[in-house]
Amino acid sequence: MSRFDSKVVAITGGGGGIGVAFTKRFAQEGAHVVVLDATESIVAAGVQAVEGRATGIVVDVGDETSVDNAFAQIQRRHGRLDVLVCGAGVKSMGRVAEHDLAVWKRCIDINLTGLFLCNRAASRMMLAQGGGAIVNIASVNGVRACEGMAAYNASKAGVISLTQTLACELAPMNVRVNAILPAQVETPMTAEQVGAERARREERIPMGRYGKPHEIAAAAAYLASDDASFVTGHCLATDGGYLAFGFRPQTYI
Ligand SMILES: NC(=O)c1ccc[n+]([C@@H]2O[C@H](COP(=O)([O-])OP(=O)(O)OC[C@H]3O[C@@H](n4cnc5c(N)ncnc54)[C@H](O)[C@@H]3O)[C@@H](O)[C@H]2O)c1
Repeated sequence: MSRFDSKVVAITGGGGGIGVAFTKRFAQEGAHVVVLDATESIVAAGVQAVEGRATGIVVDVGDETSVDNAFAQIQRRHGRLDVLVCGAGVKSMGRVAEHDLAVWKRCIDINLTGLFLCNRAASRMMLAQGGGAIVNIASVNGVRACEGMAAYNASKAGVISLTQTLACELAPMNVRVNAILPAQVETPMTAEQVGAERARREERIPMGRYGKPHEIAAAAAYLASDDASFVTGHCLATDGGYLAFGFRPQTYI
């Protein structure tokens, strides 16, 4: 498939666990990928994964000037932006009653405000050129509470709401905005979930396993492509059935 031939696709967190899979998938389908990530070495990891089909820019998504400069650079280098995938994010732990405010703010600044800043910058470019597609990476945690992850859950609920709002605002202007809700995926973010802890989490997923980064990338490529030309404001659970699951009885009465 080459659904992104001659398209420019920017990926925040493009050097991370799921991000590299995004970078590979869009490059395989013909895109030139702009890897946006936090450090030179992480950006290089994304760019090197698809030799010759990507360039990189170091950005702090939580910083307005850094984000605006990065998108201005994309405009200068490529003159357009067809797709933005927002995958940059951090995990954050803390129960509400004991939550440290600085920890809360860091998570919201990166996961929600950072995504807002990137969506805003991309929207401006896409409006000016007459179209585009944005895919935001939320999480099942945005709709089902995972205890002890107050800020992360709230940030991802915010991403879902922002996605729906922006989708409605931009729908008449040929810009589609959708979100993906992964459950556990095998990346550095979940690497410490091993043994009994991992088994407990897998039990909660009807398919009985963690997702692979390439499975999330396939969903992102679909939502960004013309195959999803009538899809906007949608939250695509890519979760092995996690959100469908209610309760598994021991006996059937
Ligand atoms: N791994 C999972 O189980 C899982 C599940 C649901 C949702 N997600 C979401 O998927 C996305 C990717 O997660 P991942 O598992 O690949 O994690 P990861 O830690 O491997 O990748 C996250 C990337 O975001 C980048 N990043 C963090 N802060 C940044 C900043 N201020 N500016 C620019 N870049 C920054 C990191 O450098 C990293 O490359 C995240 O938004 C995460 O919340 C992951």
